[in-house]
Amino acid sequence: LVQFFGPKPLTGHKLLLTAGPTREPIDPVRYISNHSSGKMGFALATAATQMGAEVTLVTGPVNLATPLGVTRINVESAQDMLDAVMDNVDNQDIFIGCAAVADYRIAEVAESKIKKSSENMQLALVRNPDILASVSALTKRPFTVGFAAETDNVEEYARGKLERKKLDLIAANDVSIAGLGFNADANALHVFWQDGSQQLPATDKLTLAKQLLTLIATKIKTS
Ligand code: CTP
Ligand code: CA
Repeated sequence: LVQFFGPKPLTGHKLLLTAGPTREPIDPVRYISNHSSGKMGFALATAATQMGAEVTLVTGPVNLATPLGVTRINVESAQDMLDAVMDNVDNQDIFIGCAAVADYRIAEVAESKIKKSSENMQLALVRNPDILASVSALTKRPFTVGFAAETDNVEEYARGKLERKKLDLIAANDVSIAGLGFNADANALHVFWQDGSQQLPATDKLTLAKQLLTLIATKIKTS
């Protein structure tokens, strides 16, 4: 019912967001990835659509249905995700980086399946590009929001990312709390911006998504 009768504070706004993990190939049959379920990003896409936004969702491999009305772009690696974001970022009003992007990729992906040989093996890794920082560095940039998954020093690390990546807002979750955040149905966020912060206490990810987007809506009105 909220979908039809609730306030639509994002009407007329375009939102681009990333969700899920990335997969970094090792060889044709193997990859490096992480446990991100994509649930928070998909909840944000659902909530934003219900709040009137036009939503484009760039997602890594996840087991989730596309929310009604959302344009979905499937990607695998961090580089693919960056390309899809850059192809779609023009004219976006808001960008939210919710994906758990692999920080490193394999330096040289093998063309054929790697056979086992010695008792030990090493994989050389190289840093992936930072998608969020690439968006915030654009001259005509959208209101740029990041996520920070931390296990300790949440405020210090989150504020560090807000500064370094030149973000408008960052939503931090403490992934050390059992049952919250990564791969869970519930989450709690501590949101930081230049001159303020707000706690969003633990609840289901759709409710939390609406609360975060409501906060973002008030910020874009005044920015
Ligand atoms: N992010 C991104 N591209 C990357 C790495 C991260 O866009 N290559 C985004 C994530 O989507 C998230 C934010 O940056 O919105 C923070 O990600 P996080 O992993 O917490 O921070 P990092 O900067 O990667 O630092 P670290 O993992 O060392 O804490
Ligand atoms: Ca990281």
